[in-house]
Amino acid sequence: MIEAAIRAIRNARPRRVVVFTGAGVSADSGIPTFRGPGGLWRDFRPEELATPEAFRRDPKLVWEWYEWRRDLIRNAKPNAAHEAIACLSDAVVVTQNVDNLHARAGSSDIVELHGNIFRVRCLREQTTHVRDEPLAQLPPSCDCGALLRPDVVWFGEALPPHAVARAVGAIRSADLLLVIGTSGVVYPAAGFVNMHAGLSIEINPEASGVSSACKFVIAERAAIATPKLIEAVLEA
Ligand code: OAD
Repeated sequence: MIEAAIRAIRNARPRRVVVFTGAGVSADSGIPTFRGPGGLWRDFRPEELATPEAFRRDPKLVWEWYEWRRDLIRNAKPNAAHEAIACLSDAVVVTQNVDNLHARAGSSDIVELHGNIFRVRCLREQTTHVRDEPLAQLPPSCDCGALLRPDVVWFGEALPPHAVARAVGAIRSADLLLVIGTSGVVYPAAGFVNMHAGLSIEINPEASGVSSACKFVIAERAAIATPKLIEAVLEA
């Protein structure tokens, strides 16, 4: 299947490329995904940790979970998939991930649909800033005295409107959409894949909720298949 996808890339000679990623692109960096074997939602209940209600109820517990993840991610490195994607200097990377690994790999045009785990937001002022070091006190507070929360999208919250507009615009006008490592079950993000009419290629070892929307499906790990496809794009 990968050979057929590479041939399609050579024929299409795509110029506008969008790479749409989920937790699976970071699995080869050792960061657990949410669903599937070893997935975070097997051991934790989303409504106890990733909702505004959970944060109101117990901000320390929620922050302890985020600090655990922040530590894991800080010690991880971008893998061959992130690095290959970063070689496409004109591509738009639309990601559901909050792990910042695309930026660390060198991608410059990144649309973060679900926020960034290394940013915090003041509950009173709604201002955001980067806090990527381990936090001395949990839950952390803003200089104004209000609590800080992770600047991520929780269940029941809307996606940032500017990120949605940018993602939809880029996907609609792309010549090639690469869909890498997402279960394709969390909306609205999963619905964006259907908005693309041209050549679309999915990389995922398992069938996903968006497989049927993609022209080619490559059942392979991101770190193995992504560099091969990106090489074909660069040579086309
Ligand atoms: P999921 O955990 O739902 O899905 C991960 C996908 O990655 C699965 O389809 C796996 O088969 C695939 N996968 C696993 N290892 C892989 C590898 N080495 N290479 C390629 N693919 C691999 O993660 P997402 O689809 O990103 O939302 O989840 C979407 C959203 O659900 C997340 O952004 C998060 C979560 O709840 C929020 O926190 C708002």
